Amino acid sequence: MKFIKTEKDLGAPAPLRLFSLEDIGLPQKEMIHFLSSMSVKLEWDDYDVKLAQVRYLMEVEAEKIRKYPAIRTLLMNFLNDYYAERSSLEDLHDIILWMSPEQQQTLEAIKPRRKRTVAEFEMAYTGDINDGNWYIRRTPPEPFQQGVESGDIRSVARIFKEMRRTVTDDQNVVRFIEKMADLARDVHQGPGGDFMRMSLHRMYVEGDVIRPGSNATEGRHQDGADYIVSATVISRYNVIGGESVVSNKSGETEYLRHTLQPGQGIFQADSGSPLWHDVTPIQPDPTTEKKMGFRDILGLDIYILDKETA
Ligand SMILES: [Fe+2]
Repeated sequence: MKFIKTEKDLGAPAPLRLFSLEDIGLPQKEMIHFLSSMSVKLEWDDYDVKLAQVRYLMEVEAEKIRKYPAIRTLLMNFLNDYYAERSSLEDLHDIILWMSPEQQQTLEAIKPRRKRTVAEFEMAYTGDINDGNWYIRRTPPEPFQQGVESGDIRSVARIFKEMRRTVTDDQNVVRFIEKMADLARDVHQGPGGDFMRMSLHRMYVEGDVIRPGSNATEGRHQDGADYIVSATVISRYNVIGGESVVSNKSGETEYLRHTLQPGQGIFQADSGSPLWHDVTPIQPDPTTEKKMGFRDILGLDIYILDKETA
């Protein structure tokens, strides 16, 4: 596999690769065409709206929450039920009633800007050259929980919609997964590496002139996997921003700052490594008349499973 940049070129203390689908041996144009054609069929992500609404309520009620921290717990419990569709905003009637008309309008105006689907796999290394190097089994998705403190609003678990079989059965998508598994196995130090769990996610983010879109609203972070492909860009339409940044934890030392173009992606060590990542918000290109733009990516979380037993 060829790379645009490796950790050696970038002076990074852990595996960090900038790649293009073409360079790693995949039919880039064909893949982009196929995956873009599927993105219009993705459904809007309700979780995104629900999280934004509750986050806004916390902002509005910040003063009260400082005095009565129990309100925060109440809102987090609400979000859990709201995600699971056991609750609706009407259950917060007592809070919303006291908000100003402008605040109520802002709450109303929160619209979905993300489409997201996931697919999970178990992978076992076979080293069979004729038949790909991996045995792959698709598994039901596990609740997605960000690796943040339990009091953090983002720690509430979500279950995302599953990716269509047409996508995960596509030969090139399968080869992409296998290549990234090869790469993780290759760079992985220490025991294990022949057995992995992978989570493939597709994320489509729209930005409009009013509110820029972002897929890392939390800022600099780690995803909690052993290795990740933070993004492989499928398309960028009429946007500026969406610049990927890989740095140390404090952000003082940057190893990579790059605006991924369609077909380009970043593979890197994640949890327990000295590498943290972030992406800048996107917004519509102000030099055009169009009011919106979008960025569409394919990401991958890779967990090495047999670390202890191997
Ligand atoms: Fe991330």
